[in-house]
Amino acid sequence: MGRRLLSGAQRFSTTVLRSILPYRSLNNSPALKSCPYSFGQFNPCRPSFAARNITTSIETNMASATSLPAAVESLSLHTSSEASKFPNCYPSLNPVDTYRQHIAEKLGAAADLDAEKIYTRLQWTNSLDKGDLVLAVPSLQIKGRNPQELCKELAEKFPESDLILPPVALGVHLQFFFKPEPLTKTVIAQILKDKATYGSNGNQGLRDANDPSKGRKKIIVEFSSPNIAKPFHAGHLRSTIIGGFLANLYTVVGWDVTKMNYLGDWGKQYGLLANGYKNFGDEEKLLKDPINHLFNVYVKINAIMSEQDGPIKELKEQIKTKKEKSEDVSELEKELAKLVDASEDEKARRYFKSMEDGDADALALWRQFRDLSIQKYRETYARLNIDFDVYSGESQIKQESMAKANDTLEKSGVSEKSEGAVIVDFIRHKAKKLGKAIIVRKDGTPLYLTRDIGAILERDEAYHFDKMIYVVASQQDLHLAQLFKITELMGYKDLASRCQHINFGMVRGMSTRKGTVKFLDDILRDVGDKMHEVMKKNPEKYEQIANPVETADTLGITSVMVQDMSGKRINGYDFNLDAMTSFEGDTGPYLQYAHARLCSIVRKAELNVEELPSANLALLTETHAVDLVRQLSQWPDVVLNTTKTLEPTTILTYLFRMTHILSSGYDTLKVVGSEPEVKKARLALYESARQVLHNGMRILGLSPVKR
Ligand code: ARG
Repeated sequence: MGRRLLSGAQRFSTTVLRSILPYRSLNNSPALKSCPYSFGQFNPCRPSFAARNITTSIETNMASATSLPAAVESLSLHTSSEASKFPNCYPSLNPVDTYRQHIAEKLGAAADLDAEKIYTRLQWTNSLDKGDLVLAVPSLQIKGRNPQELCKELAEKFPESDLILPPVALGVHLQFFFKPEPLTKTVIAQILKDKATYGSNGNQGLRDANDPSKGRKKIIVEFSSPNIAKPFHAGHLRSTIIGGFLANLYTVVGWDVTKMNYLGDWGKQYGLLANGYKNFGDEEKLLKDPINHLFNVYVKINAIMSEQDGPIKELKEQIKTKKEKSEDVSELEKELAKLVDASEDEKARRYFKSMEDGDADALALWRQFRDLSIQKYRETYARLNIDFDVYSGESQIKQESMAKANDTLEKSGVSEKSEGAVIVDFIRHKAKKLGKAIIVRKDGTPLYLTRDIGAILERDEAYHFDKMIYVVASQQDLHLAQLFKITELMGYKDLASRCQHINFGMVRGMSTRKGTVKFLDDILRDVGDKMHEVMKKNPEKYEQIANPVETADTLGITSVMVQDMSGKRINGYDFNLDAMTSFEGDTGPYLQYAHARLCSIVRKAELNVEELPSANLALLTETHAVDLVRQLSQWPDVVLNTTKTLEPTTILTYLFRMTHILSSGYDTLKVVGSEPEVKKARLALYESARQVLHNGMRILGLSPVKR
């Protein structure tokens, strides 16, 4: 059949290769020191800039495949080398393509219409009662014909077929229903054969669909991106879930995916943290639980800083009033200078400056904090089935790139000086909605946006990607729109067009039962605990589980993720612990239950799964069975459609619809007590449903449970 399965080794090697390739080359390069960029204080030729370019040890560690978290399972995909006269048509990967091809050819010949036009206009339906495929006759754009009449005529002209029932003309819609028996045979055989690769299609990601030697398209998915020593908030959680899903989706349609975490790991807050650590730090605690310990230190030192803020502000006020009355303020000013000098804020600024200047001790401490945090994060991400290929971050952006960008912006007249700072006034560039943005502060230092500008250019050069996705909350819509616009204004129109912001709404009321949440681990632990309680309510089932704590943990994670992926991304939602952990309704636990039940049916039947392909599938005649098969045949199309919507809910909605058909059929399609042949056929059906459910859950990033 010309189908090629990527071998395990091939699949693995892409992952390993990616992590060996350094995100940035080692940057203590002498080239920096002779760099041509120089303006104002923003001078990348200062030695301090070279010192900033640090590749942390954790990134180097990631080169070893053995350090990949065990919980992270790889996804598999298959490709096809078959050629069809229709675009994107792969009957060996997608059973529905066989039907599209068949309908297009038959109808084209019978009604003297362009077959390719029919092929591309055939649409999937929202529910099985509307057919398996539908043709909206007006979409054929045939002039001078009443579409309703034409629809009727086409239905009549459609010839007898082995695969399709006589089509139904409903208004302007021509509905096609697949004949049950051949469909059942094709679909079930294909699922049992393709297993985890059913629904995937490596051809989609090829640069040239007709020539695999041209390689696969490259995508960077940047997601999660928390800030070290600050809480991992709901925005980060959503970015992690949605980003992980998108990375999986692009993987199974054959793209070369790089998962990137862009950490908030640089800035004055690091100075504050380092000074705080000198006072309140505890190495043992740091090593044991770096994320929480650093956060606690940060909170303490931050509180001190806030306390100091009051008197400083007061003094400033006093000076202002006195000045207005032309009174002498020299004493007060001295006092203020003293207070400021001794303040944590100023100390933090000085410390951060020492980092920028390349102070070895300061950088060593920073690197330790960063490395330990990343190590901890990696473990937590593994619980969500995510392993990043690259831990980038704000610290990693070369001053050189930012300086170069600034130079370009200045020379092309895009940016301008304003009160000592450098800004871009978007109103001047026909993008009124974007307002104004500061690019360089008065004191010459770069900002969040400046680093993103540097980053986008660096990534383009390092990866030559075809597409880059930023998975960031909609609160940062303006930030990303400004970033893309500036990229365009700098003369990188093509680069800007390859970038996309995938945004999402807010989660309301995310808190653990003990109080507000701070970290991903806290959320996951809490949901796991709650799940454990819910499970205990059914003692009979609970006793059957060998490792309840572990299962509760997995179900808890599923709960959070499914709740997050249920609606459209842009809609926010209320974090509802009770609703998400319930086994009733379209929840994570329900999905897991459906999977476990299918596993148990197959397990209890004590039949070798490898024997199922020889089942007599003609025995699957019941409407429930046929409808389930029709639903399963849609899976490859659902994956394809998801690459257009980029919404996890597209997959989730399908999985719930499929599991509903499944559960309504259990009473009719009994396994226990059936004739051996019937039993085998039904098991083949159930195993196929399990496989599709499994494949869907895996793209969503869930770990299907067996019991
Ligand atoms: N660390 C940022 C935050 O917590 C998110 C980073 C998003 N990515 C980017 N390239 N700006 O808000």
